[in-house]
Amino acid sequence: MNSDRDLAVAHEISMLIPVFEQVANSIPTPAFVYEEEFIRRQCEHIRQIADKAGCKLLYSLKALTLPWVLELIEPHVQGFSASSLYESIIARDTLKMDGTVHLTTPGLRPHEVREISEYCDFLSFNSISQWQRHKDDLAPNLEIGLRVNPEISFLDDSRYDPCRAYSKLGAPISSMKEALVNGSPLLRGLSGLLFHNNCNSPDFQELLLTVKKLETEIGCVLDNSQWINLGGGYLFDGDSVNLDSFYEAVWTLKSKHNLEVYIEPGSTFVRDAGFLVSTVLDLVENGGKEIAILDTSVNHLPESFEYDWRPDVLTDIKHGRYSYIIAGSTCLAGDVFGEYSFAEPLEVGTKVVMHGVGSYNLVKAHTFNGLPLPSIYALHADGEVTLVKDFTLKEQSQK
Ligand SMILES: Cc1ncc(COP(=O)(O)O)c(C=O)c1O
Repeated sequence: MNSDRDLAVAHEISMLIPVFEQVANSIPTPAFVYEEEFIRRQCEHIRQIADKAGCKLLYSLKALTLPWVLELIEPHVQGFSASSLYESIIARDTLKMDGTVHLTTPGLRPHEVREISEYCDFLSFNSISQWQRHKDDLAPNLEIGLRVNPEISFLDDSRYDPCRAYSKLGAPISSMKEALVNGSPLLRGLSGLLFHNNCNSPDFQELLLTVKKLETEIGCVLDNSQWINLGGGYLFDGDSVNLDSFYEAVWTLKSKHNLEVYIEPGSTFVRDAGFLVSTVLDLVENGGKEIAILDTSVNHLPESFEYDWRPDVLTDIKHGRYSYIIAGSTCLAGDVFGEYSFAEPLEVGTKVVMHGVGSYNLVKAHTFNGLPLPSIYALHADGEVTLVKDFTLKEQSQK
């Protein structure tokens, strides 16, 4: 711990420990718990920044689609962004006629295009060929955009990187530039553009660099468009740096190119609102290491397993006296969360709470080995915990 930010985070976490001691002992596990007040505060915070910049704020449903959470977010945003027919239906059902629905996907299914175009207001095609194939299947009044791949990478792990080599995501900016130079009519008929080229980035300088590249390479497409969607991939929280670059990026697009600007973050709304509460089922020893087996599994936190990150545990402390490998309870040998240390020894029945796991986990969780999906609880501002959903055997065994 060295910066003020680290100290503030440590302080916030230490405040959560007594709260979650109570919560964890009052509910069956495994359980996802979502902190209502956090989501509300975060919505207000992001909306304030979007308003100051003068851009429209959408929530990207893919991070978490819990209806209860969507109802919480809905009053703070101008719409939702979706990736599929089902997400567009959820978006429209939640918003009614009060907000806009944007959609982009590399996998438009021909038989769904018409229906999607009726639920959505904005459809950004992923490629020119996708657009050409489906341009006559669309409902009237749909705003038609193209996802551009800016071919500027900020991520070390190519699995997260929409601008990785040979990416399937978006029309490469170099091809668009070439089409413009050759006077091709291919880009005519678009009303807007979308790009999304980052993941969990706190640094808005990267967004500004991307916008500058768009201006340099395809400035005349910007000039001939009415709107642009800057995607998600940024964290609007205490980790954010260079927020001025965000304001500059939006200002440039609005004032120099006369564009309506949208942003569609997902994770930053809900990531730190989510906790996975579990119970130690067994303690075993192997090769001199203590192993604690939990009643959850990496299949309840697929993001940490897929991308190889170690989830944070509330009572984990640096140089704690009692160290454990924390493992899940499936037959998979690699069903392991990582090594942690604690001030007190773990026992069978001890609760272990992982935090910062609110985005992209519940939506991907599965029931390998027949383990129940975690139940879902809401933690309200007054400390009350209410059940949002638990899963029946029938729901769990449907696939
Ligand atoms: C097109 C698009 N927009 C928005 C998002 C949301 O990104 P994040 O949750 O990282 O903010 C994603 C995430 O993959 C995306 O692909």
